[in-house]
Amino acid sequence: QVAAASGHTVVLVDQSDEILKKSTKGIEESLKRVIKKKFADKPEAGAEFIKKTLKNLTTSTDAASVVHSTDLVIEAIVENLDVKNELFKTLDKFAPEHTIFASNTSSLQITKMANATTRQDRFGGLHFFNPVPMMKLVEVIKTPMTSQKTFESLVDFSKAVGKSPVSCKDTPGFIVNRLLVPYMMEAVRLFERGDASKEDIDVAMKLGAGYPMGPFELLDYVGLDTSKYIIDGWHSLEPNNPLFAPSPLLNKLVEEKKLGKKTGEGFYKYK
Ligand code: 3HC
Repeated sequence: QVAAASGHTVVLVDQSDEILKKSTKGIEESLKRVIKKKFADKPEAGAEFIKKTLKNLTTSTDAASVVHSTDLVIEAIVENLDVKNELFKTLDKFAPEHTIFASNTSSLQITKMANATTRQDRFGGLHFFNPVPMMKLVEVIKTPMTSQKTFESLVDFSKAVGKSPVSCKDTPGFIVNRLLVPYMMEAVRLFERGDASKEDIDVAMKLGAGYPMGPFELLDYVGLDTSKYIIDGWHSLEPNNPLFAPSPLLNKLVEEKKLGKKTGEGFYKYK
C-alpha cells in the first residue's frame, strides 16, 4: 500500500486469489482512512489518489513468474526460516542480477536467509510496523555481507515511501521488537501471577507511560501467533534468558486459535 501510494509499481503476491482479494479490499479500506485525513477538504483529489494508488498495484499467485521484472522483493510471509529460505531460493533463480531481496521478518536472522541465496551482498532487512500506513518507522538491517550500495538503496526506498529509517545490526528483534516483545511478555507474566488485571495493566501503560495501546491491546493487534513465534524462536536461541521465557497463557490462547483481533478473540473479545 505505502509503496503503491508513493508511485512505485507493485505486484502483491500471495498464495490464493481469495487471500489477494481480501488484501486488496483491506488496502482500499485503509486508503479511504488515509484520504479522510490527507485530503479532508478535497474529496476529488482523495478519490484520484486512491485510483492512482490502485493502478500501481497488481496481484499474482506466482512469485517466480513476476520476479523477473522486479527491482526489490519485500518478503512478509510466515515467520518460519525454512519456508522463507525455500521461497528466497526459488526467487533467486528467477530474479535479475540487480534485484535486491529484503525480509520484513520480526525476529529471524537476515543472514540465514541471505545464505540461502547467491546474492548475499544484495540482501537486507526492511522491517515495517503495524499499522504500516500510520507507523513512520522502518528498521533497515545490514548483515555483514550486505553491500553499502544495497544498504543505501534500502534507506532511499524507505524514505521514498515516506518513512523514517533507522539502522540496526542483524541481531534478534533489531531495535523495536528487542525492547517491545520482552515488555509485552513481562505484562503477560504480571497478569499470570495475578498481580494486576489485564485491563488495569493496559490503562496503566496508556495513562502512566503515554503508550497509545496497552500491552494486551497491542498483543491482540500484532497477533498472538506472531508474538508466540517470536518468543519461541528467541527462547530456543537463549533458553536461560528469563526475558525470552514462553508464557503458558499465551501458548494456551494460541492453541485455542484465539489469535487476537484478526480471529475476533485474543486477550480481549472483538465484535
Ligand atoms: N490504515 C490507515 N489508517 C489507519 C489505520 C490503517 N490500518 N489504522 C489506523 N489508522 C488511522 C485512523 O484512520 C485514524 O486517523 P484519524 O486520526 O484521521 O482519525 C488514526 O490512524 C488513529 O486511529 P484510531 O483513532 O482508530 O485509533 P488510535 O488513535 O488508537 O490510533 C494506532 C491507532 C495508530 C494503531 C495507535 O493506537 C498506535 O500507534 N498503536 C500502537 C501501534 C504499535 O505499537 N505498533 C507496533 C507494533 S509492533 C510491530 O508491528 C512489529 C512486528 O514485527 C510485530
